[in-house]
Amino acid sequence: TILSQEELKKIAAFKAVEFVRSGMVLGLGTGSTAKHAVDRIGELLKSGQLKNIVGIPTSMKTHEQAMNLGIPLSDLNCHPIIDMAIDGADEVDPEMNLVKGRGGSLLREKMVETASKKFIVIVDETKLVDYIGGSRLAMPVEIVPFCWKFTLQRLEMLFTDAGCVGRLRTEGERGAPYVSDNGNYIIDLYFDRDMGDLKAASDAILRLAGVVEHGMFIDMATTLIVAGKNGVTIRNK
Ligand code: A5P
Repeated sequence: TILSQEELKKIAAFKAVEFVRSGMVLGLGTGSTAKHAVDRIGELLKSGQLKNIVGIPTSMKTHEQAMNLGIPLSDLNCHPIIDMAIDGADEVDPEMNLVKGRGGSLLREKMVETASKKFIVIVDETKLVDYIGGSRLAMPVEIVPFCWKFTLQRLEMLFTDAGCVGRLRTEGERGAPYVSDNGNYIIDLYFDRDMGDLKAASDAILRLAGVVEHGMFIDMATTLIVAGKNGVTIRNK
């Protein structure tokens, strides 16, 4: 039997939840893969196999899902140290650096996941890339709405050598700007070529006034769980 991508996401998510212990403060990720993990945590709480979990959601969407499952919730103000976070990713490179935020939740994800002692990334094998940007899909940057075209141009200019093109993320038929949970816009950056040193790229993006955060999660993942046609692999850093 050939497993669908959806089934692979679920397998990776369930595997990650096996590492959850009662009493943990847990960062709850966002997206179609993380959703399975949150469902599973809800299930184990309900059956009593897990107890005293506190969930820290990484988006309004996950907040709602977790609330409906009856998972006790809190935030970073009350729980500045998180035992473990579980989340998906859009790209994973050979060093376990990530692109996240195609679902738009990169800022809260980064805030929660940098506060986590362990960060388990769950993906199906289609997310693996040779280098960040290698999928030719978007690398999202959250920016303030004020003069967004100016910020978009500034972002493109940082990476002219890598053939960078930016697009404002929109939604709906009328193409209205997509607005993040934090009231910001998202610029999706596309690269023709490798952008080179990721740390330098990250610093340059974050130095631009108007930028709030970007979707590269460099040196953050501590465990990677990949579900593929030939089984599940777990890698620790
Ligand atoms: C949300 O903003 C994203 O960072 C997601 O975590 C990421 O896009 C992975 O989503 P999927 O599991 O739906 O691919």
